[in-house]
Amino acid sequence: MSRDNSKPRQIAKANPGSSVSESYKKLRTNIRFSSMGQAVKVILVSSAVTGEGRTTTAINLAISYAQENKNVLLLDADLRRPSVGQAFFRSSRTGLSDILIRQSMPQDTIQQTDIAGLFVLPAGTVPPNPSELLGSEAMRELLEELKEQFDVIVVDSPPASSFADAQIVGAMSDGVVLVARSGKVTKEAVRRTRLGLEHVGAHILGAVLNNTSRGIVESNYANYYGYGGDHT
Ligand SMILES: Nc1ncnc2c1ncn2[C@@H]1O[C@H](COP(=O)(O)OP(=O)(O)OP(=O)(O)O)[C@@H](O)[C@H]1O
Ligand SMILES: [Mg+2]
Repeated sequence: MSRDNSKPRQIAKANPGSSVSESYKKLRTNIRFSSMGQAVKVILVSSAVTGEGRTTTAINLAISYAQENKNVLLLDADLRRPSVGQAFFRSSRTGLSDILIRQSMPQDTIQQTDIAGLFVLPAGTVPPNPSELLGSEAMRELLEELKEQFDVIVVDSPPASSFADAQIVGAMSDGVVLVARSGKVTKEAVRRTRLGLEHVGAHILGAVLNNTSRGIVESNYANYYGYGGDHT
């Protein structure tokens, strides 16, 4: 796969029309169907463990929405290991955590990207208390404000099996896309992650089986991972 090394994860942009880019478009379409006409504005991208491709999926899903002429915000709520900012900009920036402690204003912190319609809010300074910040009233208020400014907000997050962060943000989201990397995570761990998110009222919009050599295969594998009674 040909990739721009300075922006290694922007697969959909680097290869528009490629099968990988097409698979994110398909994910976008599946999200539309699984939301059954309900407005889905805030989409959390989650997975059970580290390195499954949450950030890659969030970036490419956001690009895919921007290519559909939507006004999109890619929000890095992985305050523990921020990576969205680095994927787009060379220098480190202030971000979400700085806004939440009132050290920065959203309008000064949200960055335009070189992709039309796509804006990024990096994670910002790594705080000592990520879960507390994400669960704060300030976070709730910020999301409400951002929902008025953007058509879609795609949110990156830490691994759900290690931290409460994904559940905290999942509860504030309209839906969750669950990423599972083939060979990296057990079916049981995916099932537990899904149940944990559903427990806080999050709506699972779909699942992505991330196969790094073949791109992504989405949603239809859901039965296998416990959506359809196959979980034993
Ligand atoms: N579909 C894909 N095709 C090619 N490479 C991929 C794909 N998905 C992920 N990768 C690569 O796998 C690595 C891990 O992906 P990524 O950083 O997106 O995962 P993550 O779940 O966000 O990880 P972390 O837990 O560290 O935040 C990265 O080097 C990324 O470039
Ligand atoms: Mg990540």
